[in-house]
Amino acid sequence: MAREKWRSGLGFVLAAAGSAVGLGNLWGFAYRASQGGGAAFLLLYLLVVLVVCLPVLVAEMVLGRSTGSSALIAPEKAAGKNWSLMGWLFVIAPLGIGSYYAVLMGWTADTLLHSIFFGLPSDINEAEAFFGSISSGSSVLLGQLVSLFLTAVVVSAGVRGGIERLTKWCMPILFALLIILAIWAATLSGTWEGYRTFLLKWDSSQFFNPTNIRNAFTQAFFSLSLGIGIMISYASYLDRKNKLPKEAIGVASLDTAVGLLAGMITFPIVISFGLKEAVSESTVGALFISLPTGLGSLGFTGRIVAILFFSLAYIAAITSSISLLEVPVSSMMERLGWTRYKAVFVASSLLFLLGLPSALNLNILGKMDSVFGGVLLILGGFLLSIFLGWIVPSRFDQDLDGSNSNLRLRKYLKFMLRWVSPPVIAFGLIVSVIDLAKNWSS
Ligand code: TRP
Repeated sequence: MAREKWRSGLGFVLAAAGSAVGLGNLWGFAYRASQGGGAAFLLLYLLVVLVVCLPVLVAEMVLGRSTGSSALIAPEKAAGKNWSLMGWLFVIAPLGIGSYYAVLMGWTADTLLHSIFFGLPSDINEAEAFFGSISSGSSVLLGQLVSLFLTAVVVSAGVRGGIERLTKWCMPILFALLIILAIWAATLSGTWEGYRTFLLKWDSSQFFNPTNIRNAFTQAFFSLSLGIGIMISYASYLDRKNKLPKEAIGVASLDTAVGLLAGMITFPIVISFGLKEAVSESTVGALFISLPTGLGSLGFTGRIVAILFFSLAYIAAITSSISLLEVPVSSMMERLGWTRYKAVFVASSLLFLLGLPSALNLNILGKMDSVFGGVLLILGGFLLSIFLGWIVPSRFDQDLDGSNSNLRLRKYLKFMLRWVSPPVIAFGLIVSVIDLAKNWSS
């Protein structure tokens, strides 16, 4: 069977940006930025994106396009059987992330439906009670199931007919909503205080705070969908003529812009309605408790804003979850010769089962996120930088030669991939593992 291709280069960029822009930008960015890092968190995050992630992003794309293979097969196709373990990492990690991502999507859907049909909570206690009800019992399973089902429908329609078509429509809507909401948030009373407290407050000791460092690395990798083969799969459906470095810059800029804009929406709300404590208390606090509470005190306007915000979050989430499902699906199709339908059915059933523990226990969800959505991504990024920087470096040049992309940019990326990314990511990985172990044992 001939491999599918994206209809257009823009389609690929939007699909990749759709994968990148997700709950990580809205939920993850808000809660990580609110853990006290302030401007130091922001700066570290931006540095990690520019200095180490961008070259790795191009490396992932090169590996996908040059092998034309799914994430499971690409490493061994490029460098032999010894590297097949890396392929397995690229299948296991998206399954792990996808499992709890569907649970988060379910909460988002519940919050959206609740804002539409019943309105918002009137105080923080009511919001906590509401969150308690959506995050337990049958409603969490229903939300998870429906979200997986929608994801499965899109992925089974294929790369062009499903993924490309959905993201082409959703991404512009998402940007429009985001900009409208950011402008609205800029008119609140606590706007500047919100920006200052969470994004601009300067405390240089935070540069050396291990949790802050782990947060910056995790946020950068998670938000870019980097390190576990998403971009390998997506780029395997590409033509040689696409200028990958330029497209990678496009994806990274869109993703970072969305993270910042989302912060410019959530933080003014949090400060304007005096919800600072509630945000940093729990990982779910920022999005699912504080935001509805703050907006609840604004009456009708607040309800409209909540509906727009959670629609936006759901749209962002589904364009990401399809990428998480596509990786195991394309790998099963290629390795086992299954049809797309069969692979989608098996992979999404697996995601449902693997997600049950997270659905039933918040603590487990947090741990899954730290391991699959944190440490494994950073590990994957490290392996990729070694792989394309040192093991099969000629692939990088050969693949990019075909597309006559900017030579200076390529030289820069190659240099960073060989000399800068590996040690810096290794440092981030070690700090993250130690910090996580410390958190878990205390
Ligand atoms: N990047 C997405 C977000 O920000 C989530 C996501 C999709 C992801 N695919 C991924 C994260 C692959 C890590 C790896 O919500």
